[in-house]
Amino acid sequence: MLKLDSNLLKFNLSELVSSQEGKLQAILQDLEKRSTDQNDWLGWLALHNDSKVYAEIQAYADTVIKSNKFENLIVLGIGGSALGPQALIQALHSPLWNELSAEKRKNGLKVYFVDNVDPDWTHNLLNELNLEKSLFCVITKSGGTAETISAFLWAIDNLKKKIGNNWKDHLVLITDPEKGTLRAFANKENVKSFAVPPNVGGRFSVFSAVGLLPLALTGIQIEKFRAGLVEAYKDLVEKKDNLNSNIAISLACALIEADQKLGKKINPLMPYSSHLGRISDWYVQLVAESLGKTPQIGITPIKAVGATDQHSQLQLFAEGPLDKIIFFLKVTEFTHQFKVPETIIEGFADLAGETLNRLIEAQQKGTAQALAQKNVPSLTIEMSKINEENLAYLLFTFQLMTAVAGSLYGIDAFNQPGVELSKKYTYAFLGKAGYEQYLKDLK
Ligand code: PA5
Repeated sequence: MLKLDSNLLKFNLSELVSSQEGKLQAILQDLEKRSTDQNDWLGWLALHNDSKVYAEIQAYADTVIKSNKFENLIVLGIGGSALGPQALIQALHSPLWNELSAEKRKNGLKVYFVDNVDPDWTHNLLNELNLEKSLFCVITKSGGTAETISAFLWAIDNLKKKIGNNWKDHLVLITDPEKGTLRAFANKENVKSFAVPPNVGGRFSVFSAVGLLPLALTGIQIEKFRAGLVEAYKDLVEKKDNLNSNIAISLACALIEADQKLGKKINPLMPYSSHLGRISDWYVQLVAESLGKTPQIGITPIKAVGATDQHSQLQLFAEGPLDKIIFFLKVTEFTHQFKVPETIIEGFADLAGETLNRLIEAQQKGTAQALAQKNVPSLTIEMSKINEENLAYLLFTFQLMTAVAGSLYGIDAFNQPGVELSKKYTYAFLGKAGYEQYLKDLK
């Protein structure tokens, strides 16, 4: 479903993978074995087996859509509890989705994300939306993230005021099946909820209810993602004989080689597609939070979008410090042909009658070649079409790449102690009970 072109890497990727075949097979076997352990963090590897969960999510979403009760979906979540659904919604829906008529959306909900605590942004968004037509989807695995819970408390308060007794019908919660304050709330108040499996961490949760429910509520058939995951699992986890054809393994090896042997500490992911722009954001979190670990390990992922960033970051990539390995993401078959009209305007003959399809392809190839001439290594991941199956395959590939790279670095790719520490200091600065020690330590 994906193809990898590593010709411009400046090192032989196949040889690199082959030279470590035994070690890589052992890593794959270890990850696979851990995927069924409820106390580990590899549950995302096996989410394609959850057909029942997929069906439950789809059935709930279909009922909501058919009820015609809601127009807006407001997703409250941050980090791994927001970036996955944001990326997939941008990939699959029109940029004008929220402006389309209900008929054009086939009653799929418009979707808005609150993924920050910016007072103005939050005020402007929440106060402009008609709460009577709004469903809040609250996503937090831990059930206690301050950014998410503060918006959630606003929602409860305002729903009670505006909707009255039926306020709970405007909520759907996604959290741990047993632990955390939000789960306790869902159980006590009998609010509709879905679970994030205990062995699936935030940034690996896009194919659990975290990503699937918002997508299904906009009218996407989520079973198609599962089909993509089944393929990816077969190709990338089950098949262990020829690791050279395993794109996740190849990408992991390329990252480690670039970082540890060649001193390339920066890794832009540059999809040539505006629809895939937020995949870069999702990727940045996945790689940064998973691989950036003590003792000063990690490669810095960067968001870039082609061709837009040819007019922004490319100059730096080409002539700045030689510290980057670029991953291009290329779509070979766009849904639409966009033709540049024949023109009678003098001087524009080169573009007259061209298609944007040919233009974007030439720009990606041209950029990769220009970078190669400046000794900047790059590889190109080719995806045939932007659809549910391919997106699931792609995101799974990046997740597996990250897990394998974590094993090669010898770090735990699934924790985030640096983030947890900042959460504790935040509560300490707010003067919350139980966090006094953190301020004392500062003094
Ligand atoms: O990847 C992660 O684990 C984090 O980015 C979390 O998703 C983020 O901190 C939000 O946490 P939670 O889902 O518990 O609110």
